[in-house]
Amino acid sequence: MSPDGGRLVIKCRRPGRWRAKTQDRDTAQSVVIILGNRKMAQYVKSAVMGSQDVKAQNLARDTVEPTKDTRITSDFGTKQSNTDDWLKVNGKDKTGPMLLEDGFGREKIHRFDHERIPERVVHARGAGAFGTFRLHESAADVTSAGILTDTSRSTPLFVRFSTVLGSRGSADTVRDVRGFAVKMYTDEGNWDIVGNNMPVFFIQDAIKFPDLIHAGKPEPHNEVPQAQSAHNNFWDFVYGHSEATHMYMWTMSDRAIPRSYRMMQGFGVNTYTLINDGGERHFVKFHFTPELGVHSLVWDEAFKIAGQDPDFHRKDLIEAIDNGVFPRWKFGIQTIPESREHDFDFDVLDATKLWPEDLVPVRCIGELELNRNVDEYFTQTEQIAFCTSHIVPGIGFSDDPLLQGRNFSYLDTQLSRLGINWQELPINKPVCPVMNFNRDGAMRHTTSKGKVNYWPNRFDAQPPATEAEGGYVDYPQQVAGIKERARSAKFRDHVSQAQLFFNSLNEVERSHLIAALSFELDHCDEAIVYERLTQRLADIDLGLAQTVADMVGGKKPEKAGRQNHGRKAKGLSQADFAPEKPTIASRRIAIIIADGYDGGAFKAMLSALEAAKATPVIIGTRRSLIFAAGEDASSSSSGGMTGVTPDHHLEGQRSTMFDALFIPGGSKSTETLLKSGRAMHWVREAFGHLKTVAATGEAVALLEKAFQLPGVTISSGAEAVESYGVVTLKDVKPEGLGEVVGAAKNAKGFLDKFVTSVAQHRCFQRELDGLSTQVAY
Ligand code: HEM
Repeated sequence: MSPDGGRLVIKCRRPGRWRAKTQDRDTAQSVVIILGNRKMAQYVKSAVMGSQDVKAQNLARDTVEPTKDTRITSDFGTKQSNTDDWLKVNGKDKTGPMLLEDGFGREKIHRFDHERIPERVVHARGAGAFGTFRLHESAADVTSAGILTDTSRSTPLFVRFSTVLGSRGSADTVRDVRGFAVKMYTDEGNWDIVGNNMPVFFIQDAIKFPDLIHAGKPEPHNEVPQAQSAHNNFWDFVYGHSEATHMYMWTMSDRAIPRSYRMMQGFGVNTYTLINDGGERHFVKFHFTPELGVHSLVWDEAFKIAGQDPDFHRKDLIEAIDNGVFPRWKFGIQTIPESREHDFDFDVLDATKLWPEDLVPVRCIGELELNRNVDEYFTQTEQIAFCTSHIVPGIGFSDDPLLQGRNFSYLDTQLSRLGINWQELPINKPVCPVMNFNRDGAMRHTTSKGKVNYWPNRFDAQPPATEAEGGYVDYPQQVAGIKERARSAKFRDHVSQAQLFFNSLNEVERSHLIAALSFELDHCDEAIVYERLTQRLADIDLGLAQTVADMVGGKKPEKAGRQNHGRKAKGLSQADFAPEKPTIASRRIAIIIADGYDGGAFKAMLSALEAAKATPVIIGTRRSLIFAAGEDASSSSSGGMTGVTPDHHLEGQRSTMFDALFIPGGSKSTETLLKSGRAMHWVREAFGHLKTVAATGEAVALLEKAFQLPGVTISSGAEAVESYGVVTLKDVKPEGLGEVVGAAKNAKGFLDKFVTSVAQHRCFQRELDGLSTQVAY
């Protein structure tokens, strides 16, 4: 079997040269691969074991599962017969004192008392999953790294997504940067890309990181607020550090409230280097682009979900993977030859700047897929520990002053959180051998045999690897300079790219950014903070500064601090990242029913959604059997139709948990829903959050009553109508429902119009034309 599951034939052509013939997974055509000894050995290993399995097998050694056949033991292995009562000296039917002698009791409480470890100092709240990295195109022209040159490999990995500011128990959907940390278990060692969902950062030099985080986290005197930057200290800090200007424009944009971890980009942010076989070096930035497109919540929704379902993002990730709709990202690199380092008007080592794609295109060479949920949160998602300094041969650092500091910080922080032997924890352990003379320390697991624990030794035991054996060789970089605390001149431009970002957003995105800034500064109650900031905004764009000043009560600036250069770049607006093929896969769609609903329309929608791999969720007026028109409880016992049990009832969820709503007709069910304020709120709120809302038959009246907007056209006959993402069909006949042909613009039938509308993610025209704000929600 080939690593892709096809039949594999391997022949030796001449010593050291191997020929493998297999079938391409997608096209079923024959593929011939010629490889040297080492690479063919790796290829055969992944063929026999499956690369994914290498890490799974590695973890299996430390995995146990309670079953009916296993029995409770103490930590030292003795089976226990009673784990519910502490050993006591009782009288007859009288409870007496407990005995200190009870080692089992003491052990249980003692283990519980020590369950917590320090949470991460930043990025404390997170969710993760296992997956695979596959390379489609070799980048051998720029790197010798096996993972970026060997297209036959599939590399197991773990990704942890996170928010930055909140503590471990905070909500998922707060306005914040999202961490996007990837640990690739490569054959040459672990390679960690510890990135974010935004391509730039707040500061240029790592020495500022503690100040940034202190200012962003809850204020020290009262520990308020949790998990957000909407407070005096944060905005005071960014005023004092104009280098943060570009980044806070990103955090005030919709990027900071993603719809899903599966719908955000990932960026390595810092500048790394790639070194090829010829010893040439390129600067590199790493990119992950989601197959589902880049999408966000709207602020009112994000805000409400934080209370209604604080686990929204982690549940979304688990649900998609459990349903087999595996999230995928294209992996891309932007590279700049070392010789062109100074050819740009930004410094390529400055983490507050991105490399505009118009100047440095992203080359997509691989794919990251998440396909397995964790077995246990603590041992995997909590104990995984990333380090920017984890690199493999063919990849190197640059002089990016933020990266250099991070390389110290991550290794250091793992000591407080996990202890010196943290790399021996199963989730952190590489899949290749770890052999060295590092020894001892708290909680050492590995037993290293032999008489010597140093190199060189009289036995020549365990020498360092040569380059040919895969040893990491540092790039011979020439360094000369003046020892000083300073940055190069280009680091001093803090505004050009903030303008570039603002200009590149579309009208809706720009208005969201202005609203977000206004919200945040509205939460700053010290005038010096919001007044200074609104003045500062005039450096980016006068109109922006004036609008925000007006909203938050700042002094309206009269003239621009710096003229907006007016330039735009591609790849900054989320709208540039629509999925290649419109899809509703994994979209959560609520179908609201009450007794007497139209069973035909209901079933047609349900099967259309299932066929499109969406996630339909049935919401009833109660979570016990609901009967369609013509069904009733007595017909179920007489072998007739049996009703459906909803997944939730109307009070158990809110519209915020879904991407779209559908209400099938039925005169009795519509009558019930028309009298339900909660049902009305569901519909209005979904409309306000720009979601597709659909109804058939009598239920169309429900939408009319909910919106009462003449601008929204509603079906009045046998023709399906889509207007501002409101999809209706009054007279339901099977041909009117139609089939889902694809999410195409010229959709005709009701189902096709519905799916096409949901695939757009949100109906922004509704907001642009001022309709969403006319409905109370
Ligand atoms: C380019 C800028 C940065 C990015 C993209 C970034 C990203 C991340 C991410 C994704 C995590 C969470 C890792 C996980 O899921 O466990 C993290 C944690 C952390 N970061 Fe950063 N960070 C940046 C800058 C910095 C700087 C400048 C420092 C310090 C000088 C720093 C120190 C830390 C620390 C101490 C943790 C906690 C690590 C742990 O406990 O596992 N970060 N960072």
